[in-house]
Amino acid sequence: MKTKVLMVCLGNICRSPLAEGILKSKVNPQKVYVESAGTGDYHIDELPDKRSVAIAKKNNLDITDQRGRQFTAEDFEAFDHIYVMDNSNYENVIALAPNKEAEKKVKLILNEIFPGENVDVPDPYFGGDHGFENVYQMLEEACENIARKLKKGLIGESN
Ligand code: 4NP
Repeated sequence: MKTKVLMVCLGNICRSPLAEGILKSKVNPQKVYVESAGTGDYHIDELPDKRSVAIAKKNNLDITDQRGRQFTAEDFEAFDHIYVMDNSNYENVIALAPNKEAEKKVKLILNEIFPGENVDVPDPYFGGDHGFENVYQMLEEACENIARKLKKGLIGESN
């Protein structure tokens, strides 16, 4: 069975599509399944934001196969690990958790770089292109650490 990882932000058009694309590029697709979702319903079925598509392309990643979808309580069953981009996403996702076991699956993605600091990936939606560069670098580093843990078996289907 594959380890299933879900990346979550608010709109599922800026940050989590980048996190999905970056992590996918670093793992064995036979072993790890990666997807993304948004807590909001504003951008269902939409392509990622043009600025996310551009920064991904600059880094040789194509994320244009992705379409926006909303996070649901069923995702707690379908996924082993749920990485959220900021503290607001964390609150919104935890509010839908059916039990403690489900809550344990939810982690702030930047805690993979700064353990226990609960730092947000800033929402770049209302800012300029520099925000997307910044977000890309943070997610690149965080996903590198997640990919390493997956490869070493430090995280998997049951932990
Ligand atoms: P994301 O950014 O959560 O990184 O996808 C946003 C995209 C859209 C909106 C907010 C944040 N919005 O309000 O439409």
